[in-house]
Amino acid sequence: MIKTVEIVKGFNTPESRWARFGPYYAMFPLDFAFEVIEKYSKKGDFIIDPFAGRGSSIYAGGILGRRSLGIEINPVGWLYGSVKLRPAAKELVIKRLKDIYSKRNYYKRASELMPVFYKMCYCDEVLKFLLAARKHLNWRDDNVDATLMSILLVYLHGKIGEGFSNQMQMTKSMGINYSINWWKKHNMTNPPRINPLEFVLRKIEWRYEKGTPNVQESHVIFGDSTIELKQIVQEAEKAGIKFSLLFTSPPYCSVTDYYVDQWLRLWLLGGPQSHKSLQEQYKSRFVSKKDYYNLLDTVFGKCAAIMDEKSTIYVRTDVRPFTYNLTFEILTKHFPNHVDKKVESRPFTKKTQTEICGNKTKNTGEVDIILTSQ
Ligand SMILES: C[S@@+](CC[C@H](N)C(=O)[O-])C[C@H]1O[C@@H](n2cnc3c(N)ncnc32)[C@H](O)[C@@H]1O
Repeated sequence: MIKTVEIVKGFNTPESRWARFGPYYAMFPLDFAFEVIEKYSKKGDFIIDPFAGRGSSIYAGGILGRRSLGIEINPVGWLYGSVKLRPAAKELVIKRLKDIYSKRNYYKRASELMPVFYKMCYCDEVLKFLLAARKHLNWRDDNVDATLMSILLVYLHGKIGEGFSNQMQMTKSMGINYSINWWKKHNMTNPPRINPLEFVLRKIEWRYEKGTPNVQESHVIFGDSTIELKQIVQEAEKAGIKFSLLFTSPPYCSVTDYYVDQWLRLWLLGGPQSHKSLQEQYKSRFVSKKDYYNLLDTVFGKCAAIMDEKSTIYVRTDVRPFTYNLTFEILTKHFPNHVDKKVESRPFTKKTQTEICGNKTKNTGEVDIILTSQ
């Protein structure tokens, strides 16, 4: 039997090449996602992740022959997750790329009117091209457009030479003033000159070089779990389906604002030109303890209706007392018949991704709460 971690090691198979698709924040290590799926479910089982992020759990499930269903509210995470399950045909993506590139000069005036941040971040050719992509790609409803858009999102910012942008971090979009000051201080106010067509063609060639992954019936829904789960519960009940594994990692209370962290990618998807914390429930930093309670209570409560009696509930969360205690309390409330409760602590020994990216909140570690019925 192939060890699951081998499937995604290196970049020599379509599965490994697409597995890491999409820089996101607080994502599962890939080998961990494969190991959990392998250990706690079997082929043909139904598995669910109501906070799917960039979709590693769903991808691992789909590759390992589990029917996997994810839900993700953030369009950046959703696009990465859903595209890697079913990337559009390479020729169609290239055709669409050329089409968008050919429209770039209509955006000359619009690019001149963009705020200074964008002009320091991207050269003219790139900025016009991005504006054309932002306007014309129908990423919500068309798989070719979604595939091209998600490739653009991957390379929207990063170290010089790795993406379209002037020096930036890849996982998280830095603030506007912070970036401008940083570029000025380091004499880097001129963005790198890049031909976006050639650049993206190279990236597409590399990504598709080994083919596309073979994924079993698996999907990520773009939406809010507190709402989407209602219909999922109804449909599962109608079809007599029970899920064997709930495998997820909810947002941690007061830690990450996935909308601010991804603001530049959200701009490319049609969002505002500057980063703003959204006041909408579930789209900010989860500072309200009441909202946070409601989120976990609603989502795990609804999931409980579709889980098999003998299922496993595997939740990775923050070790800090508020998030951990609350999650444990809600899970045991909704899964009272899961008698075996195991908690594994994972202290962070190195600087975490969130700290590296400037998060001042001290991260102490994570815990895995695992509930089983035998
Ligand atoms: C800790 S991250 C999950 C990361 C994921 N395990 C991965 O490997 O990428 C939590 C995710 O929950 C999403 N989220 C928060 N509230 C949500 C909601 N109401 N419905 C669906 N997704 C939600 C956030 O956007 C974020 O992507």
